[in-house]
Amino acid sequence: MMAMAHPKLTLRPYLAKDTAVLREIFHDSIADLTDEDYTPAQQEAWASVADDEAEFGKRLGSQLTLVAMLETSPAGFASLASGNKIDMLYVHPAAAGQGVGAMLADALEKLAGGRGAEKLVVDASDSARDFFEKRGYVAQQRNTVSVGDEWLANTTLHKQLAVKREAS
Ligand code: ACO
Repeated sequence: MMAMAHPKLTLRPYLAKDTAVLREIFHDSIADLTDEDYTPAQQEAWASVADDEAEFGKRLGSQLTLVAMLETSPAGFASLASGNKIDMLYVHPAAAGQGVGAMLADALEKLAGGRGAEKLVVDASDSARDFFEKRGYVAQQRNTVSVGDEWLANTTLHKQLAVKREAS
């Protein structure tokens, strides 16, 4: 195949048939992009959340899940849960640093805002925290969550979507 200098990046809604490849993206993203912040045991516990493909598909399907396509291949995905919470944002390591995450976050912010949400909430991994802060998310609190036999730290951040109305 001919190398493409500017591969085309697009978004589309999640389809049930995407589940297996999104599970791979989830695994590879955690394995390759979070190793500076989490131990191998923590990464393994985190990735094992998607071990049950049917369960993972149910989670993706029950949320507003978008898939980023680089040409014809999924390169990342993001999901919005309960109107104003970003539940998942994962980019394949081979596609990292090319604007895939920004495009997904941008789309979720627009969708949440369009549905009337005034702010977006995210429990960001330590590996993704700078990414979110760069986009205007503000840290609220540190959390430690139990995943399998491990404890993982993350940070709750908020981004104001609508202009705050003055109290009248
Ligand atoms: N640290 C600092 N800056 C970053 C990072 C980072 N880890 N990742 C991206 N950026 C910056 C980029 O430099 C870029 O800046 P620019 O606009 O000035 O050029 C901007 O953020 C956008 O970068 P993208 O290329 O759009 O980011 P990418 O496609 O690489 O996706 C993501 C970022 C989603 C954090 C990816 O690295 C990833 O999947 N990480 C591992 C999985 C993970 O931790 N996901 C979040 C879990 S928490 C949750 O799901 C809610």
